[in-house]
Amino acid sequence: MAGPRRLPPLARLGLAVAMVAPALMLGAVAQPAPEPAPEAPIPYTLPSMAPAGAGPGGNAAITTAWTRSGHADAGSESFAHWNEGGAIPGICATCHSGQGFRALYGLDGSAPGVPEHALPTGGVVDCATCHHPRLSEVTEVRLPTGAMHPVGASEATCLTCHQGRASGQGVDAAVERAGSTGDDTPNPELGFVNPHYAIAAATWLGGYGGLGYQYPGKDYEGRFLHAPAVATCTSCHDPHGLQVAQDTCLTCHQSGDPKAIRITRQSHDGSGDTAKGIHADIAANARLLLEMVADYAAEVSGTPILYDALRHPYFFADANGDGVADQSGGAPVAYGAWTPRLLRAAYNWKFVGADTGAHVHNPHYALELLYDSIEDLSGALGRDFGALGLVR
Ligand code: HEC
Ligand code: HEC
Ligand code: HEC
Ligand code: HEC
Ligand code: HEC
Repeated sequence: MAGPRRLPPLARLGLAVAMVAPALMLGAVAQPAPEPAPEAPIPYTLPSMAPAGAGPGGNAAITTAWTRSGHADAGSESFAHWNEGGAIPGICATCHSGQGFRALYGLDGSAPGVPEHALPTGGVVDCATCHHPRLSEVTEVRLPTGAMHPVGASEATCLTCHQGRASGQGVDAAVERAGSTGDDTPNPELGFVNPHYAIAAATWLGGYGGLGYQYPGKDYEGRFLHAPAVATCTSCHDPHGLQVAQDTCLTCHQSGDPKAIRITRQSHDGSGDTAKGIHADIAANARLLLEMVADYAAEVSGTPILYDALRHPYFFADANGDGVADQSGGAPVAYGAWTPRLLRAAYNWKFVGADTGAHVHNPHYALELLYDSIEDLSGALGRDFGALGLVR
C-alpha cells in the first residue's frame, strides 16, 4: 500500500496489549452504554484553513494524496449523483459535499442542523470540511438512532459521514409504521431499509451505537477500540490519501494483510479452520445468511427474492424463481413480500456488507449480527441451527 504512515508513539505500548489479546478475546463482552469518548492517541492541532493556512512548502504531498483519494473524486457516484438535477437536497448534502457538512454544524454561519434548502452540486469532501477553524466546536455527533455521541475534533468528521443512515430501531419503526402483526406475515407496505454505504463508523460503534439490527435479549460487542495506538479512524487511515499502511498493523500483528489477520482461536463459521483471517469467517457467514434469506423468502414469505448489488433497492421479486427479476413497465419489481423477520435479517446482511472493512472495524459485532440473523431465520425455516456449527 502507498504512503508511509507515521505510527503514534503509543504503538510500543500496544505491542504488550497484543500479546495478551487472546485472553481478552475469550472474555470479551458487550460494553455497557453510554461510554465516555476515548482520548485521541495523539493530540494534534488541525491547521486552520487549509491549504492557505498550512505551513510553507508542506502542502504539495498532502494535496496530491487528497486529489487522488475518493474524497476528491467529483466524478464518482457519491458526488455526481445529483448533477443532472442541479442541486443536492440538504438531507443528502450533509455528507455529500463539504458545504453541506459545514451547514450541518452551522460552520458557515447558518443555524446548525440539517439544511432545509438544497445545496449546489459539484462539492466534494474539501479541505475546509476537516480544517474549518470552528470544527473544534463540534463536540458531539447525532447518530441515526437520535443518540448524541461525544467526539474529538478529528473524529467528528469521519463519524458524521461514515455512520450510515439507518439503525435497528429504524427497522423496528418501519415495521410498526407498516402495521405488521406477525413476524412471518408478508406485508406489501414494508420496503427494504438500506443502511447506506461505507458505514465504517456504524460497525466501529458496535452495540454501543446500535446501528445494526440487535435482537432482543442478546448482548453485543460495544465500540471496537482495538488497541490504544489504533483507536481512531485517522490512527490507521491517512486523512488525505485515506489508505492504510500495512506497517501500522505489523507493529502488533504477524501479517499486514487485513484479510489475513486473526487473533480469535475459535472458528465462527463451522469450518474449524482457524488459520485463515477473521475476514473469511465473516464472509462465510454472510454467504450463509444470504442463502437463508433466499430460502426464507421462497419457503415462508412465498415469493422468491433476488439480490442485485447494482440497483436500488437491491432486493427484487422473482415470482417464478427463474433467476431474473419480475418486470413491470420495463423496470424490475422491488421485493414486496417482506415479513418483519426477513427485513431484520436482510438489513443485517446488507449492514455487514456495507462496510468492506468490518473485519478490522469491529469483527465480532459483525459476526454477532450474522449469527443472530441466521439463528432467527433457521428457527422459522424449521432447520437444525446447531448442526451448522456456528460459534457466536
Ligand atoms: C463530508 C462527508 C465526509 C467526511 C467528513 C469524511 N468522509 Fe470519507 N467518504 C465520504 C464519501 C462521500 C466517500 C465516497 C467517495 C467516493 O465515492 O468517491 C468517502 C470515502 C471514504 C473512503 C473510501 C476511499 C475510497 O477512495 O473509496 C475512506 C477510507 C474514507 N472515506 C475515510 C474517511 C475518514 C477516515 C474520514 C475522517 C478523517 C472521512 N472519511 C471523512 C464522505 C466523507
Ligand atoms: C450520514 C452521511 C450520509 C448521508 C446523510 C447521505 N449519504 Fe449517501 N453516501 C454516504 C457515504 C459515506 C457514501 C460513500 C460510499 C462509498 O464510498 O461508496 C455515500 C454514497 C452514496 C451513493 C453512491 C452509492 C454507490 O453505489 O456508489 C448514493 C447514490 C448516495 N449516497 C445517495 C444518497 C442520498 C440520495 C442521500 C439523501 C437522501 C444520501 N446519500 C445521504 C453518506 C451519506
Ligand atoms: C477528511 C478530513 C481531511 C481532509 C478532507 C483534509 N484534511 Fe488535512 N488533515 C486532517 C487531519 C485529521 C490531520 C491531522 C493528521 C495527523 O496529525 O496525522 C490533517 C493534517 C493536515 C496538515 C498538517 C500535516 C502534518 O503532517 O502535520 C496539513 C498541512 C493539511 N492537513 C492540509 C490539508 C489540505 C491542503 C487539504 C485539502 C487538499 C486537507 N488537508 C484535507 C484531515 C483532513
Ligand atoms: C485498526 C485500523 C483501522 C481503524 C481504526 C479504522 N479503519 Fe477503516 N479500514 C482499515 C483497513 C485495514 C481497511 C481495509 C480492509 C481491507 O482491505 O481488508 C479499512 C477500510 C475502510 C473503509 C472502506 C474503504 C474502501 O476502499 O472501500 C472505510 C470507508 C473506512 N475504513 C473508514 C473508516 C472510518 C470512518 C474509521 C473510524 C470510525 C475507520 N475506518 C477506522 C483500518 C482501520
Ligand atoms: C497497537 C497494537 C495493534 C495494532 C497497531 C493493530 N492491531 Fe489489530 N489487534 C490488536 C489487538 C490487541 C486485537 C484484539 C482486540 C480485541 O479483540 O479486543 C486486534 C484485533 C484485530 C483484528 C481482529 C482479529 C480477530 O480474530 O478477532 C483484526 C482483523 C485486526 N486487529 C486488524 C488490524 C489491522 C488491519 C491493523 C493495521 C491497520 C491493526 N490491526 C493494527 C492490536 C493491534
